[in-house]
Amino acid sequence: MSEETTTRRRFLGVTAAGLAGLAAWRAFSAGRTDARPGRTGEWSPPGLPEASGRVHELRRTAAPTEIELGPLGRRTIWTYDGSYPGPEIRVREGDTLRVTIENRLSEGTTVHWHGIPVPNPMDGVPNVTQAPIAAGDAFVYEFTAGPSGSYMYHSHQGLQLDRGLHGAFVVEERSPHITYDREYTLVLDDLLRGEPPSPNALTGGMMGRGMMRRGMMGRGGGGGVRGMSGAGVPEYEAFLMNGRPPADPPVFEVRKGDRVRLRLLNPSGATTFQLALAGHRMAVTHSDGRPVRPVLVDTLQIGMGERYDVLVDAEEPGVWALLAAPLQGGEPARAVLRYSDARATRAAEPWPGTLQGGRMLALADLHAIEPLPPDTSADRKFDLPLSGGMMSSRWTIGGQTHPEAEPLVVEQGEVVEFRMTNRSMGIHPMHLHGHFFRVGDAWKDTVLVPPHMGRVSLQFLADNPGNWFFHCHNAYHMEAGMARVVRYG
Ligand code: C2O
Ligand code: CU
Repeated sequence: MSEETTTRRRFLGVTAAGLAGLAAWRAFSAGRTDARPGRTGEWSPPGLPEASGRVHELRRTAAPTEIELGPLGRRTIWTYDGSYPGPEIRVREGDTLRVTIENRLSEGTTVHWHGIPVPNPMDGVPNVTQAPIAAGDAFVYEFTAGPSGSYMYHSHQGLQLDRGLHGAFVVEERSPHITYDREYTLVLDDLLRGEPPSPNALTGGMMGRGMMRRGMMGRGGGGGVRGMSGAGVPEYEAFLMNGRPPADPPVFEVRKGDRVRLRLLNPSGATTFQLALAGHRMAVTHSDGRPVRPVLVDTLQIGMGERYDVLVDAEEPGVWALLAAPLQGGEPARAVLRYSDARATRAAEPWPGTLQGGRMLALADLHAIEPLPPDTSADRKFDLPLSGGMMSSRWTIGGQTHPEAEPLVVEQGEVVEFRMTNRSMGIHPMHLHGHFFRVGDAWKDTVLVPPHMGRVSLQFLADNPGNWFFHCHNAYHMEAGMARVVRYG
């Protein structure tokens, strides 16, 4: 049976079980699976496509910018090119990017191409892969874009990410495994009241301020990441979608019969979101850019650094709210899906039960379409407990904090395993630079490790020499030491 048949049959199976409008779902496959030949018995992670020969020369200027946030008023944040979020970068896989970053901030900066396995000197981690670009200076990043997928670019210096220095980065497929009529990119974010707080102050404050209230606000049911979601998280003023507050949301136009691709990105500083679209289910088709067998859900959680692509079949004319609720509590970020000709002026909200009792995406639902490596035991294993947050102002991986921590030394060609146990009350979205890793039955580059002894193991092939950051994508945890360097010996 071909991959395509498998995919389609599986998907229709899910649909028949759960969806009334079965006829509404057209065949998913575009006739190609984009699968590279799997080498049985060997590890071959999703790789770079052949170079297309096309070169894109871009420029992005990081600078303080006054922005207008509708009902929230005006304020100064840090942006790329005066735009918040930063202007989307969109290229085809295999294209070459040459991006000049101009630093008009008052301090050093770097840019990281989150998820793309770039050559190490282009990875943008200050003092690990390059010296920060000094204020007033510029730096040129050059690399091949690929493999295809939804990525993001962001500052990797200190807490600059949480000041607004991020944007979407889309690498288009040559042959997608799905068909769709239109697509939108949705960038989730959390908005600070002012300057980023010190990570140390945050951790200390949690004991008194956060505990009771957050405990009571925790939602029940579902089976996702719950509990002390607020550990090490600032008190944000608002939660935004594409830089707009809930009272002035972005509006996405659709026509009845459209199949709509939504690229959901979470470059926020410290917020895990739970997302649902009123009146519609979502078929998850990509996780961190990697194609997966489409799986239908009512709701999903997306951690800092994660990306999901979903397809929505527009078969329910009207005006519908897409909500992304921060797990630590607060008014959800919001967008509106509006059918052309819709009369309604107010968007219908997701049934509250969707966020609590609906079918929620689980890690185990993700099945890669690209070949998965055999389930071999790794050549090298690291036990990496994740801790911190209660009495200490530091967050640790394997009991150590960056930059003092020893490197995790690997040899080129090895299959490496990280076993993480979360001994803290915070959620940790763990991100590995320069490599896709296998987690369960999927390829990803960022994975949520649930609080209270949640366990996740990942495996990757050491095939991209250099010094690579492995860290929690909560900006405050990272700043408080929650990072290690993977070094090729
Ligand atoms: Cu978006 Cu080091 O990460
Ligand atoms: Cu963390």
